[in-house]
Amino acid sequence: MSIDECYPETQGTAQHSDQNNPQKELLERYFAMAPVRQSCVALQDALSNWTAEDLIKEEAEYGAFNGFQLQEQLLNATVLSSHRQPDLSYRKKFLKMLMDQAPIVENSLWHMTRCTTTLLLQVEAKGWEVLEEIWCIYSELCRCETDGGEEGGYRTFILSDTINVSLIHHPLLISDGTTGLSTWDAAFHMVEWISQHPEIMNQKRVLELGCGSGLTGICLCKLIAPAQYVFSDCHSGVLRQLTNNLQINQLVGSSTVKVCELDWLTMMEQDFSQLFPDVILACDIAYDPDIIQAFFRVLCIFSRRCGSSLNIFVASKNRSARTSAFFHETAESCGWKAEPQKMDDAQYKVFPSFVYDSQDCIIFNLVRSR
Ligand SMILES: C[S@@+](CC[C@H](N)C(=O)[O-])C[C@H]1O[C@@H](n2cnc3c(N)ncnc32)[C@H](O)[C@@H]1O
Repeated sequence: MSIDECYPETQGTAQHSDQNNPQKELLERYFAMAPVRQSCVALQDALSNWTAEDLIKEEAEYGAFNGFQLQEQLLNATVLSSHRQPDLSYRKKFLKMLMDQAPIVENSLWHMTRCTTTLLLQVEAKGWEVLEEIWCIYSELCRCETDGGEEGGYRTFILSDTINVSLIHHPLLISDGTTGLSTWDAAFHMVEWISQHPEIMNQKRVLELGCGSGLTGICLCKLIAPAQYVFSDCHSGVLRQLTNNLQINQLVGSSTVKVCELDWLTMMEQDFSQLFPDVILACDIAYDPDIIQAFFRVLCIFSRRCGSSLNIFVASKNRSARTSAFFHETAESCGWKAEPQKMDDAQYKVFPSFVYDSQDCIIFNLVRSR
């Protein structure tokens, strides 16, 4: 099977991560921007799947085996593919890995072709060469200083056999004065947790506070059927990027999805009077004492408006004991108790482990203590 066949171009037809298909695994890692050093193993596994039959075909076509066909396939399926491309620095790192891995590639082919003596001799006689095109593309990328074009770099996540999500990726954790343009571990964790408990959101009106680039809501709208999903944030650049991401994932124009500018520091009791959520979600918002207080003030407004049926879930990454203590104290002083929820590690996972670090991620259900 060719590498292109493992990862069809059409959105919505890609396959979920499959440990038994290392070629597909390699492409998933590339498009999700998994750390490149982790991809070395997937690359070697993919190459050991390259069968003796493929080698014979290549020999017939090129007169000798030199591994060029395989390298071309890798290029076409990754940096030359029409998929939304990861950012420039990632593409460079990936190509560099392909070049640096050439000797390992040779070894793994060596191992694989031990049975086909003629080919082995040819590999031995010829040695391994890096396809010239890889050098050319690499030096072209090195000449580019920034990601050109309007679209920038992407991360693509394969959520199931039929669902792909692509998001614009900002490598800097803080850019344009906000943290909202990057993707945060807590956001992935919330997707995992809600997909273990779809009843929380199914056919419910959901409001997400501080949604950033929209990873959580986009994935959840694709996986579960909410009656309404309102994405909200306070930063204009974040809201622009969010709208772009909704467009890329065909969620613009859907009657279910809405976007609103909602600032916890300025929201008044009477604002957004049409919003009556059943569920409020928020991911990675407990990082600054000022905004933690403002966040709880907004929760109180919605709690007064929606009553006891309102369900609130917050995903946090535990970075500092002080901030975490402040979050719990503020919750308590506003009449909430933050109850940690259990994640079932044995259950089906939406994201393969290389996508995010779940360590220190925690989901809280905020319940009224008075
Ligand atoms: C660390 S980011 C998390 C983004 C997203 N929830 C995620 O987990 O990927 C924090 C988000 O909170 C938003 N935020 C910060 N202060 C806010 C405020 N006063 N009102 C509304 N949103 C705010 C930021 O714009 C940013 O998108």
